[in-house]
Amino acid sequence: MAIQWFPGHMHLTKKAISERIKEIDVVIELLDARLPGSSANPMLAELTGAKPALKVLNKQDLADPVRTPLWLAHYNSQPGTSAIALDASETAPARRLIDACHALAPTRGSMVKPMRVLICGIPNVGKSTLINTLTGKRATKTGDEAGITKLEQRIVLADGFYLWDTPGMLWPRIIVAKSGYNLAASGAIGRNAFNEEEVALELLDYLIQAYPALLEARYKLKLTPGITDEQLLEEIGRKRGAVLSKGRVNLQKAAEIVIYEFRAATLGRITLETPEEFAQWLAAGQLLDAERQVKKDRIETDRLIRFKKIPRPAREDS
Ligand code: G4P
Repeated sequence: MAIQWFPGHMHLTKKAISERIKEIDVVIELLDARLPGSSANPMLAELTGAKPALKVLNKQDLADPVRTPLWLAHYNSQPGTSAIALDASETAPARRLIDACHALAPTRGSMVKPMRVLICGIPNVGKSTLINTLTGKRATKTGDEAGITKLEQRIVLADGFYLWDTPGMLWPRIIVAKSGYNLAASGAIGRNAFNEEEVALELLDYLIQAYPALLEARYKLKLTPGITDEQLLEEIGRKRGAVLSKGRVNLQKAAEIVIYEFRAATLGRITLETPEEFAQWLAAGQLLDAERQVKKDRIETDRLIRFKKIPRPAREDS
């Protein structure tokens, strides 16, 4: 079952962004460095058009240090776009953000022509933490309820440099099934919207291919060729004592262990997608989505014909 999730305040956020965007010079999109493609928001690109974009790969401390440069190069090669990697251990990130924005919009940033920057990101990507660091405030939000709505605020990062924080988050319709699972694994999706066992199996399926050594080291096991994600989840559960009566493995508990250890990076520094992989998933997802749309349109046409709202088309052979 694919994951779909929509926090309730999307319209408010969409409206706030489209109103603010006219007077914005650079759009900062915070991405999760462990899943940059999946944590990006295609709807944001639609709303912001051709505005210069700074992609901030946040939580780089949790991501694979070999893969983060691949993603940075991927974004840096796009027109009007640049990218930096960041994490919460950086105590004064303002300078790097300011410099990157100046490089994207060199004519802005004076008192006469201030630099006006919009910052956006999906839930749990670390936006509140970053803004609290930038403003020198202690965290005011617990962060464990994905998608808490806030009021728009303007932050003065330096003389002539304003950062606008949008209320709430934009959440796209998830058309890449793998993105749904990766977002759930990362903690971006509310707990009640997904099945932990399913998410853990998808995660293991990927990790067996991409990070076998980390799995073997963490769970002290040897991955036999052809091992399935179900077999691996069972083995992890058994190793961790997640066992029910009659020796059955508590798969729910095993799944929670795997997800938790991925999130905390006790499994290791992992990135769940490369730019090439994500491009393939996206192409396949878009194709499926287009097919779904054609089917939906056909059903709607049939309904309109049945209720005589539109005429029945003439048969070709008549
Ligand atoms: P949001 O506003 O985008 O929704 O995210 P928020 O800042 O609330 O951060 C979500 C979670 O991610 C928080 O953890 C926060 O501590 C953590 N986080 C933010 N930036 C980074 C980073 O660069 N690296 C790492 N490793 N973690 C980061 P939490 O578990 O919800 O709460 P807590 O652990 O802070 O108590």
